[in-house]
Amino acid sequence: MSITAPGRLTPILSDIWDAERSWTLATYRDRGGYEGLAKALTMPPEDVVAEVKASGLRGRGGAGFPTGLKWSFLPKPDGGPRYLVVNADESEPGTCKDIPLMLANPHALVEGVAITSYAIGGHHAFIYLRGETVHVYRRLLAAVREAREAGLIGTGLGPNGDYDLEITVHAGAGAYICGEETALLDSLEGLRGQPRLKPPFPAVAGLYARPTVVNNVESVASVPTIIKHGKDWFTSMGTEKSAGHGLFSVSGHVKNPGQFEAPLGITMRELIELAGGMREGHRLKFWTPGGSSTPILTEAELDVPLDYESVGAAGSMLATRALMVFDETTSVVRVIARWTDFYQHESCGKCTPCREGTYWMKQVMHRLEAGQGLPSDVDLLLDVSANIAGRSFCALGDASATPIQSGIKHFRSEFEAGTHTPAWELFPYEASAIF
Ligand code: NAI
Ligand code: SF4
Repeated sequence: MSITAPGRLTPILSDIWDAERSWTLATYRDRGGYEGLAKALTMPPEDVVAEVKASGLRGRGGAGFPTGLKWSFLPKPDGGPRYLVVNADESEPGTCKDIPLMLANPHALVEGVAITSYAIGGHHAFIYLRGETVHVYRRLLAAVREAREAGLIGTGLGPNGDYDLEITVHAGAGAYICGEETALLDSLEGLRGQPRLKPPFPAVAGLYARPTVVNNVESVASVPTIIKHGKDWFTSMGTEKSAGHGLFSVSGHVKNPGQFEAPLGITMRELIELAGGMREGHRLKFWTPGGSSTPILTEAELDVPLDYESVGAAGSMLATRALMVFDETTSVVRVIARWTDFYQHESCGKCTPCREGTYWMKQVMHRLEAGQGLPSDVDLLLDVSANIAGRSFCALGDASATPIQSGIKHFRSEFEAGTHTPAWELFPYEASAIF
């Protein structure tokens, strides 16, 4: 869906999505593209970092870590290489913002990569993309080629011609865990993608053990307009601690699912209205603020501002702003069983709580879904999930526990409805006689 509606929407990254051949350099430049890069190259790199820091931009990949602060963690230059790696491995269930952004407006990302690399003193940047998205891969390659041919990246950049930048687009093999920044770095180095122990954080020892900034696509693509218009323009949108605009991906049981670019702090009620409302004759049952890894919310939270602090205070996380909407026809148990399948399949197997726990949760969820659960299963799920959350090596383990815990919190009776009293408890004499 296009993002041209007035009112609460702020089409910035999405302003050219409806334009003809929006992905070309010509269209992007017609709308003022690459003016941010031209300005940045006249500024000392530390001023670019300071501007982004002051803008309050927070990581749009989910964690919401302050972007400029992350850049400033890089140690002082020592003459060796330092890298920017763009995390384009979008895979959180329900999350679907970076792929349309890269397809419709790849030059916003390329320009953001150039500015970010300049700011951190990097000369080689990598965009790590999901291997399955071949169409996005081709589009990014074409955009990088166009930028190189136009002299926007390559050698002799900037007013003094003393800045060089190469961009490599790398297609991964399609594993959810490779979206975890250190697993991504291992995969990029040609190793099996599994998370590394942190610290050291990538800022200190990242790609090839060199200082590395790992930023999400939307974060990097937001940088050019911040530099072009300044931090005050950015902070005029959003809330005090969650500044700026973001892509909100509304999917599920609404009339017009799609991407809605809006200031942080917009509410779910407003977004459902912008998406045409719920399906005719149906009402909301539950929703996710940031994909399947974030605790589910209900009608009671429809007016919570979608910013990091407010969603956190409401017991969930803003994360990737993947707003999946479910109406009263949805079985909570069935949805969460599907998500649990996903986490079990994507667990990299490195640590025991996640590797074993997701397997057991999957078994229990499926017997509940089939109405074959034991009366003790709901408490068993809570027990197993509590032994995964906070005890796993990376965030995937926590993520697998979250939907089960929040699903039971809000809809325990639906889980209990999937249980039955086993025959040996109903007829203890007959059952014991068999054995
Ligand atoms: P995190 O909070 O551990 O780290 C966030 C970022 O800040 C990382 O880049 C980390 O290196 C940096 N950082 C944190 N403390 C630092 C320090 N002291 N020094 C230097 N750098 C520091 O979160 P993580 O594990 O990177 O990401 C988890 C989030 O990812 C979840 O909240 C989830 O929403 C999101 N996610 C997004 C997916 C997607 O498809 N976009 C998929 C799965 C999860
Ligand atoms: Fe691998 Fe899961 Fe452990 Fe993460 S939590 S390291 S995905 S097994």
